[in-house]
Amino acid sequence: MLYRFLSLLLTSTLVCTSTTSATIDRKSVVSRFNPTRNASSSSTPMQVGNGNFAFGADVTGLQTFLPCAILSSWGWKNDSFPPGKSLEDVLSYEGVQLLNHGREVQYEFLNATGASEDQQELQQWLISNPNRVNLGRTGLAFLASPGGKVNENVTEGNLEDIVQTLDLWTGQMTTSFKFEGSNVTVRTVCAQDSDVIGVQVQSPLIAQKRLGLFVHCCQLSY
Ligand SMILES: *[C@@H]1O[C@H](CO)[C@@H](O)[C@H](O)[C@H]1NC(C)=O
Ligand SMILES: *[C@@H]1O[C@H](CO)[C@@H](O)[C@H](O)[C@H]1NC(C)=O
Ligand SMILES: *[C@@H]1O[C@H](CO)[C@@H](O)[C@H](O)[C@H]1NC(C)=O
Ligand SMILES: *[C@@H]1O[C@H](CO)[C@@H](O)[C@H](O)[C@H]1NC(C)=O
Ligand SMILES: *[C@@H]1O[C@H](CO)[C@@H](O)[C@H](O)[C@H]1NC(C)=O
Repeated sequence: MLYRFLSLLLTSTLVCTSTTSATIDRKSVVSRFNPTRNASSSSTPMQVGNGNFAFGADVTGLQTFLPCAILSSWGWKNDSFPPGKSLEDVLSYEGVQLLNHGREVQYEFLNATGASEDQQELQQWLISNPNRVNLGRTGLAFLASPGGKVNENVTEGNLEDIVQTLDLWTGQMTTSFKFEGSNVTVRTVCAQDSDVIGVQVQSPLIAQKRLGLFVHCCQLSY
């Protein structure tokens, strides 16, 4: 009996030892799935964030060409009510009654075929509100001449050799491209303990005063 117990113990020890020695190289497994891009996506922008705050980027690592959003868990707003409608109208929204197990139950959605336009507008407002505030926008400013005005005509089509990667292990987004023959590298990260991003832009165009940053803050008029 004792022998059998010992041999069982020995076997399980051996099994344990063999499994713990086979460690997974998590970094290399995770890094295999790093997303890469060579063009902006308006529906699924590349993002950095921390779970409460997310910064969506176009193919410049910022929001140069697309108004990608900066959203948070703490910034919310209501849109205006539909034209001619007030809070009372919203509160009077009734939805539809449907038979459920032999009794009428009120549901907060409409009978799409039978609902009046008024009720549909109110329903749409209730579906869409409150919603997250887009906290701002920041991007690269390509200057028309050294220290001159921003050249609004520059588009994504003017960039060459675009490579954008999100390193899933470190959370750093790295974007590089060429503009008029000069390299530009943008590194974008998000703090994990506060809702702040860090951006590093490297390019000979900065010393030539042909590249800058623009920042638009959200209008806090909600
Ligand atoms: C961009 O990436 C797509 C696939 O994601 C690929 O088909 C295409 O050839 C790439 N274009 C360039 C210019 O590298
Ligand atoms: C949005 O409107 C509803 C109804 O008036 C109100 O209860 C809610 O606090 C509002 N939310 C925000 C973020 O303004
Ligand atoms: C939805 O509206 C249509 C047209 O008014 C009506 O025939 C139908 O019975 C309604 N359905 C419900 C579930 O109320
Ligand atoms: C941008 O395009 C407009 C219209 O074609 C042109 O008038 C303007 O000079 C251009 N600006 C620059 C900086 O090239
Ligand atoms: C520009 O970037 C490319 C690709 O990353 C690199 O091979 C090249 O050496 C860079 N050129 C300069 C002048 O830094």
